[in-house]
Amino acid sequence: MAIQRTFSIIKPDGTKRNLTGAVNAVIEAAGLRIVAQKRILMTRAQAETFYAVHAARPFFGELCEFMTSGPVVVQVLEAENAIAKYREVMGATNPANAADGTIRKLFALSVGENTVHGSDAPETAAIEIAQFFAGNEIVG
Ligand code: CMP
Repeated sequence: MAIQRTFSIIKPDGTKRNLTGAVNAVIEAAGLRIVAQKRILMTRAQAETFYAVHAARPFFGELCEFMTSGPVVVQVLEAENAIAKYREVMGATNPANAADGTIRKLFALSVGENTVHGSDAPETAAIEIAQFFAGNEIVG
């Protein structure tokens, strides 16, 4: 497996509780390299574009409201098999189902306030990275 990149977000519940460093420590301990990172306030338009695939879901409005409710940290992570590796490190979407030692088991509050996002496939990773980073902002 070649070196791969994935897109990560530390969500508002994480930044609000001052957990950026704690989340990054779990990411780095797992062997993922943070090759780009910035703290931003997502606009409603950015959130709606980012989560467009969920537009028909009943929780879409709530999700976009939450993602714009405070700062987020957007990141690009790099490793061998980074997409699957990060999904393992994050744990299940619902923290009640997340395995011990995962970010969501350690820190998440609920299925909505679940501290982190990670891309689910190479195609979505490329789209998500391009939504928030220019090529020269990613330094591997
Ligand atoms: P994420 O990986 O960012 O992608 C979609 C998000 O929708 C997911 O994490 C959850 O935080 C959120 N989500 C999924 N199910 C629900 C739900 N029932 N209520 C609120 N948010 C949800």
